[in-house]
Amino acid sequence: MARKATTTGLSEAQLFDLRWARGRRDLIGPLTRLYGASHDTEVLLARLRDLLDSHWQARPADLRASDLARDIDPDWFLSEQMVAYVFYIDKFAGTLADIPARIPYLRDLGVTYAHLMPCLMPRPGASDGGYAVMDYRAINPALGTMDDFAATTAALRGAGISTCIDMVLNHTAKEHDWAMRARAGDPFYQQFYLMFDDDTLPRRYEATLPEVFPDQAPGSFTHYPDIGKWVWTTFNEYQWDLNWANPEVFLAIVDTILHLANKGVDIFRLDAVAFMWKKMGTDCQNLPQVHDIIQALVQATRVAAPGIIHKAEAIVGPHQLVPYLGKGAHAGKVAKLAYHNSLMVQFWSSLAARDTRLMTHVLRSHFPEGFDHACFATYIRCHDDIGWAITPEDAAHVPPMTGPGHRTFLADFYNGSFPGSFARGADFQTNAETGDRRTNGSFASLAGLEQALAEDDAAATDLAIARILMGHALIASFGGIPLIYMGDEIGLLNDHSYLADPARADDGRWMHRPAMDWKAVKSLAKGKSPAARLHAGTRAILAARKATPQLAGHVPTRIVDFGNPALFIFERRAEDRTLTCLFNFTETNQRVTPWGLKLDPARHYADLLTGAPLGLTDGLITLPPYGCLWLRPD
Ligand code: GLC
Repeated sequence: MARKATTTGLSEAQLFDLRWARGRRDLIGPLTRLYGASHDTEVLLARLRDLLDSHWQARPADLRASDLARDIDPDWFLSEQMVAYVFYIDKFAGTLADIPARIPYLRDLGVTYAHLMPCLMPRPGASDGGYAVMDYRAINPALGTMDDFAATTAALRGAGISTCIDMVLNHTAKEHDWAMRARAGDPFYQQFYLMFDDDTLPRRYEATLPEVFPDQAPGSFTHYPDIGKWVWTTFNEYQWDLNWANPEVFLAIVDTILHLANKGVDIFRLDAVAFMWKKMGTDCQNLPQVHDIIQALVQATRVAAPGIIHKAEAIVGPHQLVPYLGKGAHAGKVAKLAYHNSLMVQFWSSLAARDTRLMTHVLRSHFPEGFDHACFATYIRCHDDIGWAITPEDAAHVPPMTGPGHRTFLADFYNGSFPGSFARGADFQTNAETGDRRTNGSFASLAGLEQALAEDDAAATDLAIARILMGHALIASFGGIPLIYMGDEIGLLNDHSYLADPARADDGRWMHRPAMDWKAVKSLAKGKSPAARLHAGTRAILAARKATPQLAGHVPTRIVDFGNPALFIFERRAEDRTLTCLFNFTETNQRVTPWGLKLDPARHYADLLTGAPLGLTDGLITLPPYGCLWLRPD
């Protein structure tokens, strides 16, 4: 029998008022702290409310329906069903209009969240991979139109896939309309940026500022003789930092986010958030005001588009990272997702060292077991380089390791120069002052597949495949949403073709941004190629994740210090059962006793990755080279 139609009796306007009342409570504090000294908070709130109301009124009906569903189930993104896939539209599909044809591939892999890498209108020529946006309200014409974009998000939504896009908050391209007006002398827009008449203040700031791109874009300021100004440019010269101390910037960005939310975006990746607030005498990263800005953005945009969530991109040390998922007064009120940069670094560190002690120490002592209505985005590779964020204090826990020594080892190991290394990566942005080097390279090339194939070494190929699958199993189980970077499910290798493109040649990160190999995908079913083995393995890992409620994002992750440096182990307990996940970071068999893992002798265990009952040899559990087990009692 059809259910009787019901109505809440609330008008859409009343719904908005309720959401505004909820949001307002968490907006007053941040807005007063950020702007209260120079602006009347009530006046600002009134302007904000009008802005939100106009976007709410323009919000399409299907998105309002999803708003309601997510308001009722605000932890929707914590589900173990969530699996993310990150891709460049041109390299994965061609254009936006070509994405729907690739949906079956995504669904087959288990994807429920698609991160479309930068697709808003970039400046012409070099654009930092699209992170220098010239117009936030237009799509890169090489990829399609805004109508194509809305149609694509709708097609993805129809297939149960949420859309994530990049929202670059720290800077705009110098060709953005705001910057052009500032450059032309408009005082209102000059306040949108950080402009100085001479270099006195820039020099004083620079005394404590680290450089992001010391090779390709040294310094953090650029002098423009034509306008007689110094402009704050943390990244490249053509990326002008926004002045977040100006509430007009806050309002303009809220306006932009909601405009895009109404085109069907579900998740906004807030790019380079750590840099948004500047203070003399500091490194101008992760300042407390950054968390106020994020809380204000999240709470404001949630009023007019409650279905959206935000992911903070802050590639920072553990102590600075935790607050991005909400700490103290911000708990539960800031971004729902943040990249787990430490997990990524520690994966590579343990793999090179064949030693998990640093990993166990860092992940156990610097992170809580879970967060309030928030979780990590777990990943092994992304489009950026790897920065070896190993502190001297952490290194000291594993004597005789030192911070600089281990960082040098990792850079050497992954550029392939360390004797016996299996990796084929490359150095990136050597910092002359500190000697630090970052690393580029695709997952497969860093994990040994490129070298093994070049040497036609079947045993080394097996090991490389096992390393890659171990990485996928780690991010699928550690806690949070796993992000599969396009091509890592089939082991795409480094691609050096970027060197022929003058707009890209000076940025080595392009080596790990290859095009999707659809030819390899076509022949997956046929055989035993590395791509086929990796694809089948990744697919099985993701399917196992989805069948395991212990892997939902709200379930705490308890890291076990087991005392065997070859192994990384954690437990996730939910629904009265503990899931124990084990990873062998060496190329030798490792044996563990069931009692050492505190397995219940009275119960039968299975490995959820294979579905097979746990087998013992001489009473011991065996993990093969780079093997993983997800053990759970029945
Ligand atoms: C983020 C992006 C990176 C870009 C930077 C500046 O870190 O991931 O690719 O270079 O922001 O926008």
